[in-house]
Amino acid sequence: MRFIVVLFIIGSFVFPTFAVDFLFNSFGTITNGTGLILINDARLESSVVRLNNDSNQFSFGRAYYPTKLTMKPGDNSTNITSFSTSFVFSVLPEIASSPGFGLCFVLTNFTSPPGALASQYFGLFTNATVPTVAPLLAVEFDTGRNPEFNDPDDNHIGIDLNNIESDETASAGYYSSSNGSFVPVNMKNGQNIHAWIDFDGINFEINVTVAPIGVSKPSRPTLNYKKPAIANYVSSEMYVGFSASKTNWIEAQRILAWSLSDTGVAREINTTNLPVFSLPSSSSLSAGAIAGIVIGCVVFVVICVSGWYLVWRKNNLKHQEEDEIEDWELEYWPHRFSYEELSQATNGFSENDLLGSGGFGRVYKGTLPNNTEIAVKCVNHDSKQGLKEFMAEISSMGRLQHKNLVQMRGWCRKGNELLLVYDFMPNGSLNTWIFDKPKKLLGWKQRRLVLADVAEGLNYLHHGWDQVVLHRDIKSGNILLDAEMRGRLGDFGLAKLYQQGEVPNTTRVVGTLGYLAPELATVSAPTSASDVYSFGVVILEVACGRRPIDMTAETDEEAVLIDWVREFYGQGRICEAADGRIKEEYEVEEMELILKLGLVCCHPDPQRRPSMKEVVAVLVGEEAAATPKELLGELAGGDGNFDDNGGEPGGHSGGSFREEEPLQPQLPV
Ligand SMILES: *[C@@H]1O[C@H](CO)[C@@H](O)[C@H](O)[C@H]1NC(C)=O
Ligand SMILES: *[C@@H]1O[C@H](CO)[C@@H](O)[C@H](O)[C@H]1NC(C)=O
Ligand SMILES: *[C@@H]1O[C@H](CO)[C@@H](O)[C@H](O)[C@H]1NC(C)=O
Ligand SMILES: *[C@@H]1O[C@H](CO)[C@@H](O)[C@H](O)[C@H]1NC(C)=O
Ligand SMILES: *[C@@H]1O[C@H](CO)[C@@H](O)[C@H](O)[C@H]1NC(C)=O
Ligand SMILES: *[C@@H]1O[C@H](CO)[C@@H](O)[C@H](O)[C@H]1NC(C)=O
Ligand SMILES: *[C@@H]1O[C@H](CO)[C@@H](O)[C@H](O)[C@H]1NC(C)=O
Ligand SMILES: *[C@@H]1O[C@H](CO)[C@@H](O)[C@H](O)[C@H]1NC(C)=O
Ligand SMILES: *[C@@H]1O[C@H](CO)[C@@H](O)[C@H](O)[C@H]1NC(C)=O
Ligand SMILES: *[C@@H]1O[C@H](CO)[C@@H](O)[C@H](O)[C@H]1NC(C)=O
Ligand SMILES: *[C@@H]1O[C@H](CO)[C@@H](O)[C@H](O)[C@H]1NC(C)=O
Ligand SMILES: *[C@@H]1O[C@H](CO)[C@@H](O)[C@H](O)[C@H]1NC(C)=O
Repeated sequence: MRFIVVLFIIGSFVFPTFAVDFLFNSFGTITNGTGLILINDARLESSVVRLNNDSNQFSFGRAYYPTKLTMKPGDNSTNITSFSTSFVFSVLPEIASSPGFGLCFVLTNFTSPPGALASQYFGLFTNATVPTVAPLLAVEFDTGRNPEFNDPDDNHIGIDLNNIESDETASAGYYSSSNGSFVPVNMKNGQNIHAWIDFDGINFEINVTVAPIGVSKPSRPTLNYKKPAIANYVSSEMYVGFSASKTNWIEAQRILAWSLSDTGVAREINTTNLPVFSLPSSSSLSAGAIAGIVIGCVVFVVICVSGWYLVWRKNNLKHQEEDEIEDWELEYWPHRFSYEELSQATNGFSENDLLGSGGFGRVYKGTLPNNTEIAVKCVNHDSKQGLKEFMAEISSMGRLQHKNLVQMRGWCRKGNELLLVYDFMPNGSLNTWIFDKPKKLLGWKQRRLVLADVAEGLNYLHHGWDQVVLHRDIKSGNILLDAEMRGRLGDFGLAKLYQQGEVPNTTRVVGTLGYLAPELATVSAPTSASDVYSFGVVILEVACGRRPIDMTAETDEEAVLIDWVREFYGQGRICEAADGRIKEEYEVEEMELILKLGLVCCHPDPQRRPSMKEVVAVLVGEEAAATPKELLGELAGGDGNFDDNGGEPGGHSGGSFREEEPLQPQLPV
């Protein structure tokens, strides 16, 4: 039997009390009051102390050694006893990314400290904003980050002097005895953690060390705390033990073994045969016998009653599991936000924080606990399968990083709703700076910069990665301005979600009316050339200060921006298409170049549109001036065959070049 309890009771000459020295290598079959005092939800579960009850929302539990430690000869004395303790614990959250709680090693004058709260208070501390001096001292092994308590991270240890806010903290890990380097230790994945606490009452010093099982006690402690204030939190006799609590999120906190001595070094725990806790790999099956009976019954019922039961059950289970996190979700993405986190960041998705509701869903502004501003995009989808495929794609996009792309920070799924978290762009989208508010009108210089930025971002998507990433929905509304008023492309790849799972005969064209390349109406497979087309429309929009389709225009010719610009071009006075409000700001040659670039990008024939590399060369590089000349010359000259090969869905003309209006080959550069 591994159940070893040794209790030395030695009359002390210094203090007229008992010395304490015990080793629980397993808690065996102890009962409440003999080996441990178990408070509230704490209980013994196969020889291991389990501190919480999963089915109670605000569960907490404590386990104490029944004999109090004599900490000092009298309440007014500052001669404090030293002790050393070592224990093995395991913290196993049901959902790896859920906000964790952890547990505390505690020294307390009362088994039930007054005002103790569950949830993030370890079932030990109060929420009093001004903590009082009381005999309560704890070492927290915290697996959640509570910014309101100044927690540094979600995996740390701390010294708590009757206060949930730690007086000192350190990230969980240990200093390697062989090379001295810090090795982080994850305390929230269920692995068995060996902890050592050396309490030095003479020097008012507490050393805490954690390491995984198998690592012998490192010589340098993880946390070294040394303050005479310790004396204020110690009473003459104190209970010693553990405490933990939880809220909605299930987390199993277990103590597997424990030794303590107040006369010397705590005895060593034999860690060889300790049980190991991990989540069952298949969530639908639980403990063997019960599962067997359940399956047996189900099979019996299926055979006896009818086949529809199976279907019903399957559907029913599927329904129940809807909001549970599935294995595939955890494989993706560096950061998976919890729904609570995002809900908190956006004040419960309040209307006040709504930034807009575009084609793919609503976008909220949010603030993370560390004051980072984010934009949360809520995308709905009717099929989880579609979401799954999309996630695989979009998670690879998380790796895309470019100064001209809106950086994605993470994601969260709830049912069929996907929440995508992006950097917040304080200056909104480009279209508002060109159409909406005349007082916020963007000058030509800045427009030029933004166009160049976006071209670089799109060039990166097309050519900067091992595979071509299509944007599929380029428009001024998807171009965002950061704090420096530089352009960033948002929403890349999102359009793809809406092409999946479609019936083949009804392939839906995704994108925005007015920006869609004409070939999409017939061929329907988007290409990098169709992205270039949309970008061409953006160029014209920005240069002309007109929407791609002007609903207020009197004739169709005037309504479609491309046709309108081509009209001017055909008459040899292309610059008259430019935005009149910024007339003083641009040079005619430059404006001409930009407008022509826009037209070339919108060439009806996808083959004749430039690549984004070439577009960047025109917009960014002065030294590359030869390129635009050739590019525009070749494309604009050619055989001059600009048939209008189809309208956009919705009946708007995608292009209306006619042979009698050839582009001029010579360029004003
Ligand atoms: C264990 O005993 C203590 C008193 O010694 C009592 O307060 C506590 O409620 C008991 N716990 C359980 C789980 O019965
Ligand atoms: C947890 O609490 C529920 C109700 O509060 C109780 O029915 C159940 O027995 C408890 N479970 C354990 C393992 O103590
Ligand atoms: C401890 O000190 C307090 C005041 O600081 C005093 O009232 C009390 O009598 C002292 N107790 C002992 C046992 O000396
Ligand atoms: C505290 O310890 C010192 C020596 O370590 C001793 O001289 C003193 O009498 C002790 N005080 C009490 C109150 O026990
Ligand atoms: C500690 O608890 C005992 C009763 O268990 C009480 O008499 C004593 O005053 C308490 N000490 C402090 C400092 O609260
Ligand atoms: C502390 O918690 C209690 C009970 O949950 C609550 O009524 C009280 O408002 C809280 N006080 C503060 C300062 O948060
Ligand atoms: C130091 O040793 C630990 C194991 O004790 C090892 O994991 C770590 O990589 C080593 N670090 C360096 C810098 O050698
Ligand atoms: C605590 O750690 C410090 C620094 O490593 C060491 O000097 C001190 O002796 C340690 N104290 C105890 C009680 O282990
Ligand atoms: C630890 O326990 C195992 C069996 O559980 C035993 O074989 C081994 O000898 C023990 N080690 C020590 C150092 O006592
Ligand atoms: C804020 O928190 C988020 C997520 O928790 C993290 O990605 C980001 O780096 C943090 N920002 C700062 C400035 O610490
Ligand atoms: C853009 O946003 C930043 C940060 O909010 C702000 O300081 C700046 O004034 C804005 N620029 C303009 C032109 O409004
Ligand atoms: C597409 O095919 C489905 C059958 O697979 C048919 O019911 C539907 O009418 C078709 N839709 C169109 C637009 O042809």
